[in-house]
Amino acid sequence: MDENIKQEVRRLQQELTEHSHRYHVLDNPTISDGEYDRMLQRLLALEAEYPELSRPDSPTRRVGAPPLEGFESAPHTLRMISLDNAFEDEHIYEFHSRNRKNIEGPAINYTVEPKLDGVAVELRYENGILVQALTRGDGQVGEVITENVRTIRSIPLSLRTDKRPAPELLEVRGEIIIFEKDFQSLNEKRMAKGEEPFANPRNAAAGSLRQLDSRVTASRPLDIFAYGLGAYAGISFATQADILDALKDFGFPVNPEIRYDIDVESVLDAYRGLMEKRENLPYEIDGMVVKVNRLDLQEALGEKIKSPRWAIAYKFPATQESTIVRDIVVQVGRTGTLTPVAELEPVGIGGVTVSRATLHNEDEVRKKDIRIGDRVLVVRAGDVIPKVVKAVKSERTKELPKFEMPTHCPVCDSPVRRIEGETAVKCVNTTCQAQLKERIRHFVSKKGFDVDGLGKKIVEQLVDEKLIHSPADLFSLDVPTVSALDRMAEKSATNLINAIQGARSVSLPRFIFSLGIDHAGENAARLLAQTFETLEELMAASPELMAEIHGMGEKSAQSIHNFFNNETNREVIATMLEAGVDVSNPLFSAETEDSDSPFNGKTVVLTGTLTKMKRAEAKNALLEKGAKVTGSVSAKTDFLVAGEKAGSKLTKAESLGVQVLTEDEFIEMI
Ligand code: IVH
Repeated sequence: MDENIKQEVRRLQQELTEHSHRYHVLDNPTISDGEYDRMLQRLLALEAEYPELSRPDSPTRRVGAPPLEGFESAPHTLRMISLDNAFEDEHIYEFHSRNRKNIEGPAINYTVEPKLDGVAVELRYENGILVQALTRGDGQVGEVITENVRTIRSIPLSLRTDKRPAPELLEVRGEIIIFEKDFQSLNEKRMAKGEEPFANPRNAAAGSLRQLDSRVTASRPLDIFAYGLGAYAGISFATQADILDALKDFGFPVNPEIRYDIDVESVLDAYRGLMEKRENLPYEIDGMVVKVNRLDLQEALGEKIKSPRWAIAYKFPATQESTIVRDIVVQVGRTGTLTPVAELEPVGIGGVTVSRATLHNEDEVRKKDIRIGDRVLVVRAGDVIPKVVKAVKSERTKELPKFEMPTHCPVCDSPVRRIEGETAVKCVNTTCQAQLKERIRHFVSKKGFDVDGLGKKIVEQLVDEKLIHSPADLFSLDVPTVSALDRMAEKSATNLINAIQGARSVSLPRFIFSLGIDHAGENAARLLAQTFETLEELMAASPELMAEIHGMGEKSAQSIHNFFNNETNREVIATMLEAGVDVSNPLFSAETEDSDSPFNGKTVVLTGTLTKMKRAEAKNALLEKGAKVTGSVSAKTDFLVAGEKAGSKLTKAESLGVQVLTEDEFIEMI
């Protein structure tokens, strides 16, 4: 054979492997997808012509192989056992003191890792080449899923050897997961094809790995984080941290949230930090795995039948439970959108009783085919509104009527309309009381005028009693009128009127947000206030001018323009200004003025109680100076502003050498 062909094939194999690693593991590609594809096509063609040049670790192997009849089983060299669970700090302290008792002498430190909610696998590399992949199975014997695993782009088909040589044997253990965004688009595609959506990323990952046709697996967005080893030979490690470092060197993705070699107090801090971050992570986790860092101590502690003594899973509170749909009611939102809401048999999820959950819109209910009487899975994630994930169809014993969206607004009875190109069904009567109530609640909410003490009940009474017909009417309310309301004492009425009057001065971005314009949230409001100095300028702006603002969509621009051109809206705004609403703009050209602020471009964390300003004010001030405000301290934090009773974040910042500011120092600098 032509030596040139041999060389070209080898070069393509190596370069494609390198580019794939850069793309899927390092998140830092250096060639375009098109270039990658052209190289891959060339290699596929050459390997088809010269099959003897293909190798088990060639990137062409990632496209999937012909279907199997069934999965074979193979034994694990070392058992794959599971973990005991901890549910509270106390359990971690008990775990730690058991360890201290069993190991006399050295202090015990831990490496803590997110507990990924996916599917465990074991990948066997002999002399650096992936030769077998197994599921966990019963822990002793797993199913052979090598062909499926080869299609996962972030798994190296051969270990990278640029940092250390490949050992004779390395069994790598890790979790196969699907990132949230990939999961969403996978389900969207499935539903578009009329297929049943997956309930969650873990089910989707498990289903994808269990395909007999690996070409199906190849079409699924699977990823991996490696976290441990099975058997190995020709290499040695002293700690779990060493193992993770080696896994990185060998080309595996290793989770970036891992904290290495920390004491038990920091373990608990890390747990809280991770829980805070949980909603913002791009993949699902269900807790934190705490592992004794030193391998000699792991060995000394040993294993029980089903779990090691040297590791424990500290679980997060549950987020998913099943319950029965008692009824489906339809709510009318601020912009007239009708939202079906499931009324549920109350169920405790992660310490909170849930009795309602959103069903989003008509299409969702249809696609998921959720009916009154169904048993459903409900998720509650952090402080997010609970939602119904799916109906458990196998438990639908008798025929239940399909859900139908009403043809008339359940509040004002005017006919509803489905907006073309949108999923929303809307009540288009702008005087609909339900919409008015929601608009007013939005108007006075924290991110709007921030009026204290104007809760849902009072807004309902004010609207039902026809005391207000628009947000502007709030400013002409007086104490006698308000104290005439049911269950409203004169003192509370006075407080409320004072709160309303006291809230009249507001910044332009808050003012814009408070109006509740369709497609104009906090972000759009900020962008507009950076561009237009006054409300008058903004109201006169053309949609084209607005759409030119970087980050502003055309839909938002048009919607904002329409809002300000509506006669009723203009009257409402005029009434507010007459009633003494004062709109100022601290953001205008903030960018140029503040480029020399010490906070510009810096990452800042606020903690403890601030006594001279509200937390939200401090945050806004920082954002206006170009800072990024985050919730947890890490090595990337530039400043920690520590108010009174600052706790673990302060300790952590000090240990990381992050600059700590007192409230006074902060005020001085800002
Ligand atoms: S270590 C003996 N580390 O949790 C050590 N497991 O309940 C056992 N898991 O089957 C595994 N993230 O599927 C470990 N960072 C992590 C993990 C992790 C998720 C899963 C794994 C395992 C289960 C144990």
